[in-house]
Amino acid sequence: MIIWLVTERPASHEFLKRAVELYADCRVLGPTSDFAKAARTPPHGFIVDQVLNTPRTRGMISCLPVNGAKPIPAIYLTRTFETSDAVAGARRIYYPAETCPTILIKALIAQIRPDANLPDIALRRSFAVSDQVLATMWDQASVGRLDRELIDSGIDPVLDAIREGGLSSWLDLVWQHDDATYQHCLLVSGLTANFARQLHFSEADAKRLTRAALVHDVGKAKIPLEILNKPGPLSPDEMRVMRHHPEIGHDILVKSGSYEPLVLAITRHHHEMLDGSGYPDGLSSCSIADPIRLLTVCDIYAALIERRSYKAPTSHVDAIETLRRMGTKIEARFVDAFAQAVDAGNQESSRISGEISGMEGGNS
Ligand SMILES: [Fe+2]
Ligand SMILES: [Fe+2]
Repeated sequence: MIIWLVTERPASHEFLKRAVELYADCRVLGPTSDFAKAARTPPHGFIVDQVLNTPRTRGMISCLPVNGAKPIPAIYLTRTFETSDAVAGARRIYYPAETCPTILIKALIAQIRPDANLPDIALRRSFAVSDQVLATMWDQASVGRLDRELIDSGIDPVLDAIREGGLSSWLDLVWQHDDATYQHCLLVSGLTANFARQLHFSEADAKRLTRAALVHDVGKAKIPLEILNKPGPLSPDEMRVMRHHPEIGHDILVKSGSYEPLVLAITRHHHEMLDGSGYPDGLSSCSIADPIRLLTVCDIYAALIERRSYKAPTSHVDAIETLRRMGTKIEARFVDAFAQAVDAGNQESSRISGEISGMEGGNS
């Protein structure tokens, strides 16, 4: 689905553009845009943010493509009670310019595809972006560097997917991934984003933790594939090689620059245990900060529930029980909080899918 955002101020619409991109491809057209050229790929809908009663706006609106006798759905933002003859004949739907972007895009899509399953669209688009970010991350890391902007472009999609669809919808999609390492990183990222959401972390903290979750195993990009993808338990020698991945990942991030200390620490220390039995530095209790302990819980749980062709996945109940049996190795308070967060995230998915089936029932 393609939505045009037609505006005199293209630079000031980042929030609206982001809201559109959750559900559709967004093309921003401003005063200098070539409408005729853009119309070669006509949009499914418009959002127009212009002062309407001006010759310039009328000129721009007359350039908007039409879909035969049926007008293309459009929403016009207004800052006064103005309307315009220029939009007569179209489906004239006006919203105040200060309306929440999510409400605007949902109202527009309701005109374009009344039966659209918006959470599912958002989830699948977010998953596609995150998956692509991981693919590029792996390519970059294999040559020893990792672009911070690339990783940052993968954070909001994970947070959006968890907010829009709940945790279990994300897990169901990620479990279909045939690459075990991608599946693991996407599981850890979704679980971390859900944990941060359920604990009401600030947006900045949620983003920082999700960034760390995306990159925490980046060092695996330099582990030989025959070890990384071995369908079964690793030998002691293979395990020794595998256990270098936190240091390798840390080195990649340090060389890349611009990663904050917390992300570096999580990447290096996510396999440390509170009783000192972890690796690579054998840290113990007071040397392991809470965010590292938190991500370690998400990481171990993700490893347990992964779906691989050669082993049956561990159920949620058994995975939590395994975490609890780890005793003093990991933070027991976080295990309890994590279990509650997973339950709450899964309930959000059930509620959202229940609302959608309710809507479908109402339409039929
Ligand atoms: Fe790891
Ligand atoms: Fe991991």
